[in-house]
Amino acid sequence: MERVYYVTTPIYYISGNPHIGHAYTTVVADVLARTARTSGESYFLTGVDEHGQKVANAAAAAGTSPQEWCDRLVPRWKSLFEAYNVRYDDFIRTTEPRHERVVQAVFERLRANGDIYMGTYEGWYCVNDETFWLESRLVEGRCPTCGREVQWLSEDAWFFRLSAYRDRLLEHFRAHPDWVRPRSVYNEMMAILEGGLEDLSISRQNFSWGIQIPGGGSVVYVWFDALLNYISAIGWTGNADSAADERFHRFWPARTQLVGKEIARFHTIIWPAVLWAIGERAPELVYAHGWITVDGQKIGKSLGNAVDAFALAERFGADAVRYFLLREAPFGSDFSYSEEKIAQRYNAELGNDLGNLVRRTLAMLAKYYGGAVPKPQDARVSEFGARFAALPARVRAHLLQLDFREALTATWELVTALNRRIDDEKPWALAKSENERDAAALRALMYDLCEGLRWLAMLLHPIMPERTAEIWRQLGLSTPVDGDWEQALQWGRFESGTVTKPGDAVFPRIEIPAPA
Ligand code: MSP
Repeated sequence: MERVYYVTTPIYYISGNPHIGHAYTTVVADVLARTARTSGESYFLTGVDEHGQKVANAAAAAGTSPQEWCDRLVPRWKSLFEAYNVRYDDFIRTTEPRHERVVQAVFERLRANGDIYMGTYEGWYCVNDETFWLESRLVEGRCPTCGREVQWLSEDAWFFRLSAYRDRLLEHFRAHPDWVRPRSVYNEMMAILEGGLEDLSISRQNFSWGIQIPGGGSVVYVWFDALLNYISAIGWTGNADSAADERFHRFWPARTQLVGKEIARFHTIIWPAVLWAIGERAPELVYAHGWITVDGQKIGKSLGNAVDAFALAERFGADAVRYFLLREAPFGSDFSYSEEKIAQRYNAELGNDLGNLVRRTLAMLAKYYGGAVPKPQDARVSEFGARFAALPARVRAHLLQLDFREALTATWELVTALNRRIDDEKPWALAKSENERDAAALRALMYDLCEGLRWLAMLLHPIMPERTAEIWRQLGLSTPVDGDWEQALQWGRFESGTVTKPGDAVFPRIEIPAPA
């Protein structure tokens, strides 16, 4: 049974409009899914978290019912992802029956197994983060994560025996030191585990916008509900003998679960414990990435700094923003965003290095060979090509390791080498020469330039799916740009005689805004 590369994003609270931070995680998942697809099967799940007090409050403030509110907002989230050239395989909403069924079945299973019990919760609650907090964890009486006011709760509740899983969690963390990345987050989670775990309240009373607890009385705590989306979407049944279970285990355990660092605890401590309680395995990797900030503040923290992600994609093109998000900082770290920074990278790296390479190559090809790819002596023995034979494997390894910046730096070695060859070999001079050696050198050079661009389009496709498809089109290619790398990326595969179709600049220059 062939395993599928299963990648997930958090499901986003649908309490307001999506912003660039939400696009960020989703784009990263898209890059991984597209990369995995160059050598196998992948499955990419995203979606929205519709229950809970935060969403209910937002709906009430807008004077609508929570369900109507969610129905109205879902298209906005989907259109944001579309605007960023994201191609997910499934988009889950937690109000869907397929999800509610699984949450109730898991609840029943845990109750039957003695993993949950009835008690009383007394403590604080942060509505923004939908998180229970012990008094001792508050910072100046406020939520330690988002800094907002917390409310006092005192209610009967169902508790999940999280504390019973502490030893197994510690063992798991020690045996798999790379299962939580980056290392800083791993260490933080280890410190929490070493400090001890409390049982977790997993129900809410006096509050109705959630999944009913079988038997009635209260609703499931929104985080308990939300985490289960990762398995409800791929059809968890818990019945080991069923065909559905076999399908489920082609996907589960997930290969990569992407989250922002503020929700690492839910995904690396609570989530594996819940999975073990129902007899499933922990995900292979939880990667908790950093925040996009403006003036040192996480975007989205206050409404004021939420960047309009639609306008951004409009201004620079979605692919250029995708490139920026992955190129700007090592994945995992926080980084600050400004339009000026995007514009600078855009003009220098995409416009000059890559865009001009396409434009110059195709213009010279038109001039020297009427636009058709020339026939070199023997393309397969190109020394230049041989230098890059290991590049695709390197790029893929970096991408699948989530070292996006390294993947781009490695790819740029080819961009730089191609540009350097134009400067060094001066095709315009070769073209003027009457001698056959120069003519052969020109053919070899122009062939390598075309072949190099073909490689670049494929290698950059996971990161810039739309612009690379345009480069592909201009190169006159009709095979798929997202094909299998092993097969397609062998130097010399570009068929001589292919007629190129130069078009508009792939990354037209943009004006850099004056710093504010
Ligand atoms: N609904 C929960 C997640 C449940 S998953 C079972 C939630 N939703 S959220 O709407 O607040 O989205 C959080 C996620 O959005 C973060 O984990 C992160 O992936 C992304 N980001 C939100 N703001 C961000 C930044 N400023 N920077 C980077 N990513 C950001 O938490």
